[in-house]
Amino acid sequence: MSYIELRNISYKYPLSKANVLKNISYSFEKGNLYGIIGSNNSGKTTLCNLIKGLIPEFYEGELYGEVLIEGKDVRKWDSNILATSIGYIFQNPFSQISGIKETVFEEIALGLENLGIKEDEIIDRVIDVIKLLNITDLAKKNPNELSGGQRQRVAFASIVAMNNDILVIDEPTSQLDPQGTIEIFDIINKLKQQGKTIFLVEHKIDLIAEYADEVLVIDEGELKHWGKTNEILANKDLLNRGINLPQVALLSHEMENINEPFDQFAITKAEAKKQIAKRWG
Ligand SMILES: Nc1ncnc2c1ncn2[C@@H]1O[C@H](COP(=O)(O)OP(=O)(O)OP(=O)(O)O)[C@@H](O)[C@H]1O
Ligand SMILES: [Mg+2]
Repeated sequence: MSYIELRNISYKYPLSKANVLKNISYSFEKGNLYGIIGSNNSGKTTLCNLIKGLIPEFYEGELYGEVLIEGKDVRKWDSNILATSIGYIFQNPFSQISGIKETVFEEIALGLENLGIKEDEIIDRVIDVIKLLNITDLAKKNPNELSGGQRQRVAFASIVAMNNDILVIDEPTSQLDPQGTIEIFDIINKLKQQGKTIFLVEHKIDLIAEYADEVLVIDEGELKHWGKTNEILANKDLLNRGINLPQVALLSHEMENINEPFDQFAITKAEAKKQIAKRWG
């Protein structure tokens, strides 16, 4: 039995004319990191909304097919259990900040308060997360006065504090500079090592190459390519779908073009280094 399974999912928002997701089926295993990629408006965020259960509960519309978690239809799960098992980091960090708390510290504590956790434990967890995300300097600031990048870190911290088993993360680094992006990916990697199951939408394809176990390519609401990261991100078809290949995958293709292919097609820097060292060794 799969951990999470989508069966023949089609979905239309109340106001959209055509289906936004079209007959998507996939099985997800516990502890894996799934990269979700596709051009703008292809349906990535909609897929996140579906996995989080916001579709159809919140967005309504017409949903066909089934979402199963541990074999059981999500509609049959206790909604409180679902809410605490799945954390969702929204694409727009502005929609994540509650607007009702006066400090970042209180903002991060909010979700834990709602769970009814004891104050001492809340304080410990918030302090841990603030250290982990390297945002001690923001703790006393007003969340409504943060920059986009700062909000993105705080939104991320709020979800990490909840310690959910499943994380749906929609473009977590869109407002961050390269250094901030690396820091967030280090944390995502730590969460993966803790055994979390992660759905990650990200346009920075080199990072998907490095961290994802499997990749799903969405194009106009259809699942067009899926499977092991190193197979999917080697495929030049992606370029026709408005998706870049990792820099190293392009290099691997160039090596093939000059009849000097790597023994193994590389998509990450580490793989390429190994191949190059081998050739010189
Ligand atoms: N609430 C909504 N009501 C109606 N249509 C919507 C709604 N949200 C999104 N859509 C439409 O559904 C399609 C998929 O949108 P979605 O936001 O899932 O794409 P995306 O792949 O996340 O895009 P991006 O890369 O820009 O974030 C788009 O055509 C969009 O206009
Ligand atoms: Mg989106």
